[in-house]
Amino acid sequence: MAIIAPSVLNADFSRLAEQITALESGGADWIHLDIMDGHFVPNMTFGPMIVAAIRRITALPLDVHLMISNADAYISAFQEAGADLITVHVEACPHLWRTLENIRTLGVRPGVTLNPATPLLMIEPVLSLVEMVLVMSVEPGFGGQRYLPGAGERIAQLKRWRAERSLEYLIEVDGGIDETSASGVVSAGADVLVIGQAIFRQNDIAGAVRQLRMSLQA
Ligand code: DX5
Ligand code: ZN
Repeated sequence: MAIIAPSVLNADFSRLAEQITALESGGADWIHLDIMDGHFVPNMTFGPMIVAAIRRITALPLDVHLMISNADAYISAFQEAGADLITVHVEACPHLWRTLENIRTLGVRPGVTLNPATPLLMIEPVLSLVEMVLVMSVEPGFGGQRYLPGAGERIAQLKRWRAERSLEYLIEVDGGIDETSASGVVSAGADVLVIGQAIFRQNDIAGAVRQLRMSLQA
């Protein structure tokens, strides 16, 4: 069964605690946190302070997706804030080997990701260092975008590499996932689904998570 990791990017931040509780009661497995700096991506969100606040109100694993330049300088701050997984972009980290080892040394599960137009081969050398590979299925920066084609083939290739090399990383997909695109990426081999708008556009957030779970089981 796929792990459901709702992204709070499109939550109502004036009611964040209440909405995270709703995600939990709907059966969310993880909380996905999109960190944007207005530089690596053309949008800004929040930093370690908000991650620490979320850490205090939920026991669910916090899946932190760093869309920031100079990610290396902020990894320890996100670890201290309570991140369980930290995923970095290959486009923002010129020394990936060092970055991923640094994340692991801090006791956090390291993940790597790439933009839709970046060749998958860019992350192939570090697959043995990560616990998760995130396949972006939109250009990072905003919630509610259209799912771009091509993620399914990337997921299938990552699944083949994992089997050939006896590795164990999870394959996560992020961007434009709803009931329709979810079934395709799950059959391609996705283990973790990040879902933003498809949940937060509904009035009943808990019900939206339950509904997604049921459609995946069907
Ligand atoms: C995009 C973010 C995603 C986004 C997903 O930069 O990484 O996590 O919030 O949201 P939806 O599901 O609305 O595409
Ligand atoms: Zn994300």
